[in-house]
Amino acid sequence: MIFHWGSIPNATNHKIFRVILLSLLLIVNNITISMLARIKELTQQLNQHNYNYYVLDNPTISDYEFDRMLEELMALEKEYPEFMQPDSPTQRVGGEVTKQFTTVTHVFPMLSLGNTYSIEEVTEFDRRVQNALLQKTEYVCELKYDGVAISLVYEKGRLLRAVTRGDGVQGDDVTQNVKTIKSIPLKLFGDYPDFLEVRGEIILTHNAFERLNAERDDIGEPPFANPRNAASGSLKLQDSSEVAKRGLDCRLYLVLGENLPFKTHYESFTKLKEWGFKIPEILQKCNSIEEIRRFINHWDTEREQLPFDIDGVVIKVNDIIQQQQLGATAKSPRWAIAYKFKAKRVATQLLSIDFQVGRTGVVTPVANLQPVLLAGTVVKRASLHNNDIIQQLDIHENDWLYVEKGGEIIPKIVGVELSKRSETATKASFITHCPYCNTLLIRKEGEVGIYCPNEWSCPPQVKGKLEHFISRKAMNIDSLGEGKIEMLFDNGLVKSSADFYKLKFNDLLGLEKRITSEENPERIVSFREKTVENMLAGVEQSKDVPFERVLFAIGIRYVGETTAKKLARYFKTIDAIANASKEELKAVDDVGEQVAESIVQFFNTVENLENIVKLREAGVQFQVNETEQQLLSKTLAGKTIVVSGVFSIPRDAMKQKIELHGGKNVSSISNSTDFVVAGDNMGPEKRKKAEKLGIPVLSEIEFENMLAANNYELLITN
Ligand code: IVH
Repeated sequence: MIFHWGSIPNATNHKIFRVILLSLLLIVNNITISMLARIKELTQQLNQHNYNYYVLDNPTISDYEFDRMLEELMALEKEYPEFMQPDSPTQRVGGEVTKQFTTVTHVFPMLSLGNTYSIEEVTEFDRRVQNALLQKTEYVCELKYDGVAISLVYEKGRLLRAVTRGDGVQGDDVTQNVKTIKSIPLKLFGDYPDFLEVRGEIILTHNAFERLNAERDDIGEPPFANPRNAASGSLKLQDSSEVAKRGLDCRLYLVLGENLPFKTHYESFTKLKEWGFKIPEILQKCNSIEEIRRFINHWDTEREQLPFDIDGVVIKVNDIIQQQQLGATAKSPRWAIAYKFKAKRVATQLLSIDFQVGRTGVVTPVANLQPVLLAGTVVKRASLHNNDIIQQLDIHENDWLYVEKGGEIIPKIVGVELSKRSETATKASFITHCPYCNTLLIRKEGEVGIYCPNEWSCPPQVKGKLEHFISRKAMNIDSLGEGKIEMLFDNGLVKSSADFYKLKFNDLLGLEKRITSEENPERIVSFREKTVENMLAGVEQSKDVPFERVLFAIGIRYVGETTAKKLARYFKTIDAIANASKEELKAVDDVGEQVAESIVQFFNTVENLENIVKLREAGVQFQVNETEQQLLSKTLAGKTIVVSGVFSIPRDAMKQKIELHGGKNVSSISNSTDFVVAGDNMGPEKRKKAEKLGIPVLSEIEFENMLAANNYELLITN
């Protein structure tokens, strides 16, 4: 029988329709509800694993399993954004961009601490406390972290806001950026109060600081002077995914709120721990000045062993009622005091200021000082960093300057002894022209640095670029290191990286350089046969360096090692990168507006293009070498593929698999997509679009079968 609506009476018609509709709704609802349940489950599990790793230092699953779960959650949240939980761990990877940080008024003003520099002043503080309280007082000693103060506000157990100190009354809302710090809980456990404010210091460990500066050097950015500046700069970045990469951390030091469930400052940390916070590793109850003195002395000498900077010790009255009785002045609490470590400081005379020019043209002023002994080493030079610092310190010629060495390794100029200034001394000024090539210097909008724009013939810039080109992570020509670049450049043999490939044995043999040092007044070194052979062999070998490292070596600003790798794998050839628009470049992971802009600018510069042509002629790799990439097969050669949903392997691994079989990954479905590989929970919108455009959708198993059969045509037409 042929069934059609018209053959059934109208009322029945409606009934059947309603039943079908209801069942459909039920199915759809069930799917959606199970998705919500899965999102909640993953959120809870991942948060627990984060806590185990970052707070308890005791991970219970592998990084691989963690990434896999996180990827599943990210995919689900993408399809069902309405189900994303407020404490979702995906916020840890950032992504949100804050154009302008909003100003927020602190619930409790952020006071500062009274400072002391001697144990006598600490004794004096103790006397004041005892006199006011008329009873014995216990103290807690903790470290004074050298970072950026932060206020974390939790409402009903959720991180609502993270605000900088600002002027103490109002600060900047940096919540999105702070959410990327994995030791800061987004949601609390246990019997937390409805409202809670926790204060602490955002810091950068020495390891994270060194890694960050090394990466900045790779992409031609000036280094941060110290971890505090780096932490503060990172907290104010607009792109939270950039913040996530910086590896910030936090040390907590104060809990505020009403009717809090503890009676002492020390106990507050026990509660913080129960609620899911990471608590400081060093904290000590002290019942006498003698104990406090021992704590101070211990950390004054041991601070260099810590993995982060501290600049003193904080001594706090332990009992909260006693704290309240003591109260605060307008500026600082009477129940706490900071003992600041004395930075070792000396005064010495400024002899002159040198202006150094780096690979990207940034000009750095460096003070030449009358040599002086400071904390065991002789200091002769100290960086003045930038013009703003010269202006702030108001340095004049031949001034007597104070040089300090705190916890940090690098000495710092901190002030001027005005009484020793000669009346005729003129103000130190920043140069207007490059000391190496006499080009007029420029200040780029929004940047503190002053630049020499003559990037193609300013000697230190050219030498810096050449040094970057041969460096280990780039072309790795170590036979050209150790001063050889200087000799080649000074003798006019190498002006751009392509010139390395034109070097001839006879040009190099016997090449001389005069070296003057303090130990040896003058020495002449020259290239011998073996040296020259090694140099030329190194250059020759570099022709095999894969494209991704060549792309890093050519020194596009902001294109570091990882970005170069991703660009090379995505675009495959230098021509494709050079011809890509900003939008096309931004399709690559890690490439944002700034990086895309810099790439476009690089390929709009004739000198860069000419150099690339010459490098290519010399035999340097400018495309991904398929054998090198060890293609497993060419099954997917020339095919454009979209992956969507969750697979039995991480999504990145799926994409890599496609590339290993010669295919190309793209993120959205269009007419030029050859097929879609659909995992679990593929988005309905994507599926609809594929159907509309008639693009085949393969399951993971179908896809694997296709690869196993090594036959694209066979399966795609099925
Ligand atoms: S307690 C109401 N404890 O030092 C008193 N502060 O001027 C709150 N700091 O900017 C401060 N380590 O960010 C306290 N263990 C510590 C600290 C600490 C670093 C910072 C704080 C503030 C400055 C005090």
